[in-house]
Amino acid sequence: MDKFLLVVAHDQDNGIGANNDLVWSLPEDMAWFKSLTIGNEFRSENNVVIMGRNTWDSIPDKYRPLSDRFNIVISRQPRHMLNITRDTYLCGSIESALELANTLSTGDVFVIGGASIYEQCIDMPNCAGIYVTKVVGNLSTCDVYFPYYNDTFRNEQVFKSGRKLDLKYTMSVFTK
Ligand SMILES: NC(=O)c1ccc[n+]([C@@H]2O[C@H](COP(=O)([O-])OP(=O)(O)OC[C@H]3O[C@@H](n4cnc5c(N)ncnc54)[C@H](OP(=O)(O)O)[C@@H]3O)[C@@H](O)[C@H]2O)c1
Repeated sequence: MDKFLLVVAHDQDNGIGANNDLVWSLPEDMAWFKSLTIGNEFRSENNVVIMGRNTWDSIPDKYRPLSDRFNIVISRQPRHMLNITRDTYLCGSIESALELANTLSTGDVFVIGGASIYEQCIDMPNCAGIYVTKVVGNLSTCDVYFPYYNDTFRNEQVFKSGRKLDLKYTMSVFTK
């Protein structure tokens, strides 16, 4: 299996969302996520994004599937039970989603959540890195969390940081 990358935005307690939504509004992170996952404009192949069914459901209709990327949704339910578009791939397991990703594209494979998918992927040997946006501020309490990762993913490379109203954010990648 080829390597893949996790992409997450979490708060100071590793919280990533509540009520199947995010608990912040940060256009800078949306733009970062888009440019990161769409990737290199000089490469002809699209990258792949893999997500759990709840995360798919949390994306507004007008933004789904995520443009210029192969979208794979993971669910144990049959296609007709789900609100997924024709041009979106459906897989019944994480392993089959990762295998399909490698057959669809030689580009990068990004696993974009949510909590249950991160939890199952983070200890896989082929999980090569975690792109993290750390958001700090006075935020609502989350009901889903990203796993603790600092023992395994120790090397941090910071790309940018900034401030938006009462939120501070830092975008980095952590590798083993
Ligand atoms: N801050 C961030 O970066 C970020 C990123 C993404 C998501 N989120 C947040 O995370 C939350 C969603 O996370 P979540 O844990 O509730 O849901 P999720 O991981 O997005 O999706 C869970 C669903 O995925 C399917 N699934 C999970 N493991 C599976 C497996 N091994 N085989 C087959 N299907 C599997 C199941 O779908 P079925 O029930 O259909 O079988 C399961 O109910 C939301 O609050 C969202 O906003 C935050």
